[in-house]
Amino acid sequence: MTDYQKNKNLSRRTFLINTAKGLTGLAISGAGIPLILSSCSSKTTADNNISTESMVDLGPIEELQSGPYPMKINYDAKIQDGWAEIPMKGFVYVTKNDTGDLMIMSPVCTHLGCTVPIANDEWKQKGVTFLCPCHDGKYDGQGKNVGGPPPRPFDIFNPVIQDGRVFIQPLSPIKRDPS
Ligand code: FES
Repeated sequence: MTDYQKNKNLSRRTFLINTAKGLTGLAISGAGIPLILSSCSSKTTADNNISTESMVDLGPIEELQSGPYPMKINYDAKIQDGWAEIPMKGFVYVTKNDTGDLMIMSPVCTHLGCTVPIANDEWKQKGVTFLCPCHDGKYDGQGKNVGGPPPRPFDIFNPVIQDGRVFIQPLSPIKRDPS
């Protein structure tokens, strides 16, 4: 491999890592968050043949469905990107949507990307479940923006169920329409 090819591959890998950190709230949090829960499975299951190599494992579905919500799930995983194995640490918030299905939310503020913690009880009594420390962006329990500068709800991740466990693709957040 030439130096040019090495640099090109390195840049791509660095980009992916930095992007992943931004999407999952690690790089900007700086809040001393405990970050280990589970690791990524790198197998392809027999159930429906979906590979989990590029996903992170959030744990057994029965635990995520049991609440209480919002549930903060930390992860420390390695995901496969072609030949590269990318270490990823971060967390997501789990809740249920209006129809009772699991909803996995990014903790990244949709204003300028700060990591958003769960609000204290005083704010919760006012209907604010998440309060952004940067510019007082407010979100309700389903991550919908209800005050301050955030222009739209938290991004979400499609949960993939394999062998009774919930996986997400951290590099593929889904934007929701403005509240
Ligand atoms: Fe969250 Fe500005 S970054 S309100």
